[in-house]
Amino acid sequence: MAIESTFIMVKPDGVRRGLVGEVISRFENKGLTLDKMRMLTIDDDLASRHYAEHVDKPFYGELAAFITSGPVVAMQWSGESAVVVARTLMGTTNPAEAAPGTIRGDLGAIITENIVHGSDSPTSAERELGLYF
Ligand code: RTP
Ligand code: MG
Repeated sequence: MAIESTFIMVKPDGVRRGLVGEVISRFENKGLTLDKMRMLTIDDDLASRHYAEHVDKPFYGELAAFITSGPVVAMQWSGESAVVVARTLMGTTNPAEAAPGTIRGDLGAIITENIVHGSDSPTSAERELGLYF
């Protein structure tokens, strides 16, 4: 158990749909602390660094086109076990299968547009925070 920081991002679909406040509220209500926040549009270079582990996957083209399709809201959140707390709050990758009560389970329906990104480990969090802040 330790205080951690994690990288959370409202993806272009979440911004387009006006869900930035809803997503922030869920993290605030859970008890995590918002440390940093900025809005930006991801370019191809940043997309390939953010999703470095997926660059060779068959779905990368679609993933890169989506993540660069409009502004995102990038954030640093911190708290006890923040990485796993945030992932639990977000729900599983495919919103069609994510549990009700989670962000993806309540607000999303398709895997390519799943509203929010969250780091999957403290190591990923440190790397991703360095890309945006
Ligand atoms: P993220 O990195 O975006 O927070 O999502 P995640 O950890 O839950 O899922 P990950 O395995 O890292 O996949 C990154 C994003 O790629 C898209 N994806 N598409 N078509 C497919 O089979 C497929 N698989 C993954 C998803 O939009 C996922 O968020
Ligand atoms: Mg991931």
